[in-house]
Amino acid sequence: MKKPLKLGIAGLGTVGSSTARIVTSQAEELTLRAGRPMQLTAVCTRSRTSNKDRGIDLSGYTWFDDPVALATSDEIDVFVELIGGDGGPAYASVLAALKAGKHVVTANKALIAAHGNELALAAEAAGVSLVFEAAVAGGIPIIKALREGMAGNSVSRVYGIMNGTCNYILTRMENEGLDFETCLKQAQELGYAEADPAFDIEGNDTAHKLAILTSLAFGTRIESSSIYMEGITSITSADIDAADELGYRIKLLGVSVKTDTGIEQRVHPTMVPKDANIAQISGVTNAVVIDGDAVGSIMLSGPGAGGDATASAVVADIVDIARDLSLPVFGRPAATLAPYVRSKMRTHAGGYYIRLSVLDRPGAFAAIAKRMGDEGISLESIVQKRRVGSDAESGNEPGPATVMLITHETTEKAIRAALDAINADGHIAAQPQMIRIER
Ligand code: HSE
Repeated sequence: MKKPLKLGIAGLGTVGSSTARIVTSQAEELTLRAGRPMQLTAVCTRSRTSNKDRGIDLSGYTWFDDPVALATSDEIDVFVELIGGDGGPAYASVLAALKAGKHVVTANKALIAAHGNELALAAEAAGVSLVFEAAVAGGIPIIKALREGMAGNSVSRVYGIMNGTCNYILTRMENEGLDFETCLKQAQELGYAEADPAFDIEGNDTAHKLAILTSLAFGTRIESSSIYMEGITSITSADIDAADELGYRIKLLGVSVKTDTGIEQRVHPTMVPKDANIAQISGVTNAVVIDGDAVGSIMLSGPGAGGDATASAVVADIVDIARDLSLPVFGRPAATLAPYVRSKMRTHAGGYYIRLSVLDRPGAFAAIAKRMGDEGISLESIVQKRRVGSDAESGNEPGPATVMLITHETTEKAIRAALDAINADGHIAAQPQMIRIER
């Protein structure tokens, strides 16, 4: 049997502790699967002196205070980076490990989204693996699916629910009629949210994951800085109810599509038909759909966060290295990745949901419909809600009525122009709400 593969783990939070526990408690079975033993030899953590119960006795391993020292140590073959963050010690230690000829396993989506091109070149120059299955959708083997399982396809679109916190919030708002703030608080209490939950609810976390999938799906260099991003903070119970009534659910999707002008990467609240597979994904569960020319459409779903689920992906990467399974980081040699060409949002084509608070007076709706028609927008369905209460007795001008529209396919440019004109006409009492539809 080959000599043991020596592992060093930097960062012993939830995922690091679960990884250490699985590698040690499943050692016999993992050895059989990989054809060689995997041996945890060294660890690095900020809280070395704390008595935190990590669920595993780590006293027998060499402890490092400096992740770069661990990354370059002769005691390891594989550096497992679970520190987090797109720069600082995570970036320094991963780069140092690759340059020192160590394989790297990381769960760090922010790091790969920001520095994936440079790190892939460094890994391939050194002839070592850089793998990050856990960085996207936690325990779902989506990287493997794109890089290996879809190798025979030309991918036209990849999209998914990649943030458990947002899906948890939207699901509870829909099922229990709770408000946004209550649901966010509970997601934080349950430990789903990032340290700064703005990263979840504003879409950054999804954008990091999407950037990685885009590179794998389309063979382009990673580009995360120009992703169009809208979070879920503007979604109200009225939108959730309207979606339900119109036959849709609202999900925060990351979508990457090949268009005639380049690649469109966008993260935003999205209406999906209730009977779509992705609409069935509730709570913290993640799901990713890949459209390929040969296979058609596939969807993988499962836990997108949590110590053991994420460690499942980390350990799978370690087993691949132990098996000497070495693949190009983004599915083709990093030097051959195509430059990323952005398809601008104004050319986005699709259906839209519009919610308007319309002043209830003659001609208001006709004016709105005209503005839509002027931009060549065709309406698929229209719902107007009766005003609550009556102003007739008070003599005041009637309060606004809620009008909800679903459009046929149109462009972002046309929708924006129509909404600007509707705003300027003065028949509405509040900024319009607009949600894109994905089919
Ligand atoms: N905060 C993330 C989520 C964790 O809610 O999905 C995994 O990246």
